[in-house]
Amino acid sequence: MRASSKRGSLTTLAGKAKNLPAAATKPDARLADAEKFLLPTYKRQPVIMTHGRGAYVFDSAGNKYLDFLGGIAVNALGHAHPGIVKVIRREVGRAIHLSNLYHNGFQGPLARRLAEWSGLARVFFANSGTEAIDGAMKLARLLGRAPEEPQGTAAKKHRFLALENSFHGRTFGAISVTATEKYRLPFSPVVPGVEFVRFNDVADLEAKFDHTVCAILVETIQGEGGIYPVSEAFWNRARTLATQHGALLIADEIQCGLGRTGRCFAYQKFSANPDIAVVAKPLAAGLPLGAILTTEAVASHVSPGMHGTTFGGGPLACAVALEFLSIVEEEKLLDNVRARGEELREGLTKIAAHFDFIREIRGEGLMVGIELSVEGAPFVAEAMERGLLINCTHDFTLRFLPPLIITRAQVREFLKLFELVLAKTQKQARSAHPGKSSVLQDAAHAAARG
Ligand SMILES: Cc1ncc(COP(=O)(O)O)c(C=O)c1O
Repeated sequence: MRASSKRGSLTTLAGKAKNLPAAATKPDARLADAEKFLLPTYKRQPVIMTHGRGAYVFDSAGNKYLDFLGGIAVNALGHAHPGIVKVIRREVGRAIHLSNLYHNGFQGPLARRLAEWSGLARVFFANSGTEAIDGAMKLARLLGRAPEEPQGTAAKKHRFLALENSFHGRTFGAISVTATEKYRLPFSPVVPGVEFVRFNDVADLEAKFDHTVCAILVETIQGEGGIYPVSEAFWNRARTLATQHGALLIADEIQCGLGRTGRCFAYQKFSANPDIAVVAKPLAAGLPLGAILTTEAVASHVSPGMHGTTFGGGPLACAVALEFLSIVEEEKLLDNVRARGEELREGLTKIAAHFDFIREIRGEGLMVGIELSVEGAPFVAEAMERGLLINCTHDFTLRFLPPLIITRAQVREFLKLFELVLAKTQKQARSAHPGKSSVLQDAAHAAARG
C-alpha cells in the first residue's frame, strides 16, 4: 500500500482531497535508506510522518490524519502543545543534560508532584517503560533477600508472578514477565523464577502465590494484550497475598497511567495502592522519560550505587514532565478524558449494532479496544486511507488511544470515519477466516468476563 499516493485521490473527513504533485508520488530515498539500513524490527507503513498539531498528524505528501493512536499513548497532549513547546524552547538553551552526580532544578519538584499524584512516596527516573520495569524487578529481588542469605545466590524469595496476556517491555527483565511467547522465547533463557497467572483468575493466583514470591506484576489495564482491565477482586486478592507473603505488588501503569483513564492512575479506582507503580509513555509529552514510584518502606532498602542511569531524570525531560502534569491539572484534562471517553464508547456501541463482527468494546476513559471476530489489520489500513490513525493489537483488537485533549467534535469526526471504515472493510472481513479470535480470547479471558 502506498498510502500517500492513494490518499491523493481520496476525499476524507480529516484531510481534504489533495492533487499531489508528481514528485510526491515518486519513490522516496528516505524510505529506501530505512529499508536498507535499519534493523527490520518493525513492519512500518510506507509513509513518512513529518509533523503534528493538536490531534492531527501530517505526512510528507501533505496528507492529514486524525491521530487516535497518540504515538501509542505517548502524545497525551497531542502535538506541538504551546505549553510544552515553550518549556522545551526555554530549557534547551540552558541545559539538555546534567549528570545525576548533581541535582538539577526539576527532578525533586517532579518527584514531589508524582508522589502527590500517586500516593507513593519516592521516585526513581529512568528513560523508558521497560527500563523502569527492570528497575522495579531489581527492587523486588533486593527486598526479597533476607539479611542472612549470601549475595550471589538465589534468595528463597526470588520468584515473580506475572499475568497471562501481559506485556511489560523489551529488555531482559521485562520480556521475562511478558507472557506473549514471540517476545520472550527467541531470547531464552530469560530471567528465571517467573510464573504466569491466568488473567483475573483468583484461584490460580492463590495457588501460585507463596512465600517464595518477591513480586507480582500487574498491568492495571492490559494494553498490548487487547485492553483488558484487571478486576477489583483480583487486585484486592493480589494486594492481600503480597502483604501476607512479604512480596511487592507492582502496577505497570506505563500505558494506562497518568490520566488516560480519567484518574491520575488507573489503580486509583481500587481502595489499596500498589507498592510500586511504573510510568513512562506520556510523562514527558514525547521526550523519553520513565519512573519507578514506590513507598518509603521499599526506598529504605536502597543505597547509593545500587541502581542508576546516565540520562534518566535529565533537566529537559523533567522540566517538560512538570509542565505536562500542570497542563493536565490546569486544562482539567481528567474531566475531559471521562466525558470524551463516555461519548466515544456510546458512539461505538451504537455503531457496533450494525456490524456483527464486533464482539466486544472494552476500556476506560480514552483507552478503548474493540474486539473483532476477524483480523483487524485491514481495518487499520482502510482507516489510514481515510485519514485516521488507529492500530490493532493481538491481531483482533482495534485499539484507540487518542490524546487527552481530544474534543467532542473530534470524537464525532472519529466515529463518522470509523463507521465508514467498518462499512468499507466488512466484505473483506466477512470472507476472512472466522472464529479464530474466539478460541484465542476465550481461553485467555473467560475468567475476566465472569
Ligand atoms: C504496559 C506496558 N509496559 C511496558 C511497556 C514498555 O515501555 P517502553 O516501550 O517505553 O519501554 C509498554 C509499551 O508499550 C507498555 O504498554
